[in-house]
Amino acid sequence: MWIKRNGHLSGDDIARSEITPREVFENRRRVLRALGAAAATGLVGVNGEALATMTSPDAKGQKLAAKTNPKYVVTDKVTSFKDITTYNNYYEFGTDKSDPAQNAHSLRPRPWKLSVEGAIKNPKVYDIDELLKIAPLEERVYRLRCVEGWSMVIPWVGVSLSELIKRAEPTGNAKYVQFITLADPSQMPGLSTPILEWPYSEGLRMDEAMHPLTLLTVGLYGEVLPNQNGAPVRIIVPWKYGFKSAKSLVKIRFVEKEPPTSWNTYAPTEYGFYSNVNPNVDHPRWSQATERRIGEDGFFTPKRKTLMFNGYADQVASLYQGMDLKKNF
Ligand code: MTE
Repeated sequence: MWIKRNGHLSGDDIARSEITPREVFENRRRVLRALGAAAATGLVGVNGEALATMTSPDAKGQKLAAKTNPKYVVTDKVTSFKDITTYNNYYEFGTDKSDPAQNAHSLRPRPWKLSVEGAIKNPKVYDIDELLKIAPLEERVYRLRCVEGWSMVIPWVGVSLSELIKRAEPTGNAKYVQFITLADPSQMPGLSTPILEWPYSEGLRMDEAMHPLTLLTVGLYGEVLPNQNGAPVRIIVPWKYGFKSAKSLVKIRFVEKEPPTSWNTYAPTEYGFYSNVNPNVDHPRWSQATERRIGEDGFFTPKRKTLMFNGYADQVASLYQGMDLKKNF
């Protein structure tokens, strides 16, 4: 599934249209157009690279200039923008898949602050504009597999979380990273229903957080994140079930002990801390062996096989060497 040539990831020497399915190629053209637009408006950095153009208080639909990183592009057909933005889990806006698209207009993604704190040498509160500039934005096409048994393929825009972590300079006590998301009843109607403990919280072990695949995500399809997808900044951990990918982050905290997480607190026997996509470990109430690709597989199509670590085993399996993944589910 990774684009490889002579044992290496493909370089610029292959015409992109030859190696890439049309949807991905089309999407890259969209990104290139965004880069061109940024150049035309003068939003180009000193080295000629385009800068993110997100400056308006109402950033909805604004283009982000990002270069596609071919190292992180799966070749599966990309899910449509419509499906990605209308079939969502974001319980702060309701529990039906269509609720977030209908209700998340009340989220105010700007101005926005993200506090980076805890066991680090450089605690800092980032303004979202500053965050957009910590490293050149990349477009990456990842699979997302929900614990409920459906999946999508999404062209995200962001930077490796490791870029932020390097700046924070974790101390020896930083063993885990906790992600805490917004919980504001004035913006989030779903908070009046005590389904989960709010704020929504998730966590990763330090090596998982530092892994280059772990994406601090600010956009999709070349645009700023729609509210229902976790505007203005979320985490994406592609080898884990979707619920690890917390939306609308307000705090990233470095801690010594494994942090509590919302779904694990809600049902510890159903949702483990690790939550790696693993077709060999059933959820207590359903099998995890197969999945339905949204927009492609109908209810009567045979389901496709779920891949170990969601297809990212080559990249991440070594993180779990020696661990019993049935126990550490
Ligand atoms: N983050 C918050 N704050 N609240 C949520 O309810 N749902 C999670 C995750 N992040 C959720 C969240 C779940 S269960 C999934 S599958 C993904 O977001 C869905 O992301 P998407 O709607 O962008 O596809």
